[in-house]
Amino acid sequence: MNKRDLEKMGIHTRLAHTGNDPHDFHGFVNPPVVHASTVLFPNAAAMAERSQKYTYGTRGTPTTDALAEAMNALEGSAGTIIVPSGLAAVTIPLLAFLSAGDHVLIVDSVYAPTRNFANTMLKRLGIEVEYYDPHVGAQIAALMKPNTRVVFTESPASNTFEMQDIPAIAKAAHAGGAVVMMDNTWATPLYFKPLDYGVDVSIHAATKYPAGHSDVLLGTVSANAACWQRLHDAFITLGCCAAPDDVYQVLRGLRTMGVRLERHQQSALEIARWLETQPGVARVLHPALESHPGHALWKRDFCGASGIFSIVLAGGGQREAHAFLDALQIFGLGYSWGGYESLAVHVSLADRVVAKGPYAGPIIRLQIGLEDVEDIKADIGRGLAAASAA
Ligand SMILES: Cc1ncc(COP(=O)(O)O)c(C=O)c1O
Repeated sequence: MNKRDLEKMGIHTRLAHTGNDPHDFHGFVNPPVVHASTVLFPNAAAMAERSQKYTYGTRGTPTTDALAEAMNALEGSAGTIIVPSGLAAVTIPLLAFLSAGDHVLIVDSVYAPTRNFANTMLKRLGIEVEYYDPHVGAQIAALMKPNTRVVFTESPASNTFEMQDIPAIAKAAHAGGAVVMMDNTWATPLYFKPLDYGVDVSIHAATKYPAGHSDVLLGTVSANAACWQRLHDAFITLGCCAAPDDVYQVLRGLRTMGVRLERHQQSALEIARWLETQPGVARVLHPALESHPGHALWKRDFCGASGIFSIVLAGGGQREAHAFLDALQIFGLGYSWGGYESLAVHVSLADRVVAKGPYAGPIIRLQIGLEDVEDIKADIGRGLAAASAA
């Protein structure tokens, strides 16, 4: 199918056909899984000039190109690198754009291992790390310094789901000469397209909804034209390429991600609304709920919600949180999300500097899977009953 025609089609059509052209490989619908280090050249001149598309396994294969092209089509990016985990998708662009003496602004509600990387390795490399309030919006201008090179965003926030005013932040960051990065894992490129809102570098833990089955780790980083070369150079320099079977699995996952996300979205919203009426629940932290403080921003910029949100129990502490979790039969107790199955975790905000709350009780993060809604509700009901009896 002609790429230009495909770009104008609906999202499910694009997910089904984007990335590879079956006729490049004898008509087989899916691209080959190329296992490669060595790539041969036809003669010495071609070898000296590297005058062919593929030159070495770390630099790309038809398998990685298929996923990178699919991500470029979905994100509207100039280029995408594929890396071995979502965390690598965070660390590689930060290493690419920061040098000793630079200042980086990171949202305080960031994914905890991103903070750990900044507080350990970035600081050791002589980079000044500062955390800002997720609600800062245009006021981020006041935090910009002459040496601010990167503003790192994640919206909605990890665990507490605050929404960021991405266009306002991007405008202020660009005025100060900084590159804007966003961890866009929650929304996937289906529900938010960061590059259309001023972000330069969009990051995904493809481990989550793109892979979708809790059995693959992968990350993608998509950049606009201004940032692509520098990002790609860092990727090649670091040698952080992903394994072909995992790349293939994520491309396969993309084909069904649209329908899976619709179900995650619908079930999560129904359960979130129901939870707002349940005794024992102080708050439901889901940006698609009208009660959420960031709802207006979500409605303005996003076109959907995925399946993960949090609840705040009405009082109590670790005892109540553990009673809730231990009573669950369908939900697994696991740190990840984006798979087909429901998961729960007791959230800790101990590492936060600014975005600490207050919250009335323990925060439980729920990833709503593809199971039947009534069964999920009954399971959460068991958790709430156990928490109130604890
Ligand atoms: C928002 C966010 N970004 C990045 C990651 C890292 O992904 P991975 O587990 O593939 O390293 C996660 C994982 O939980 C995440 O929640």
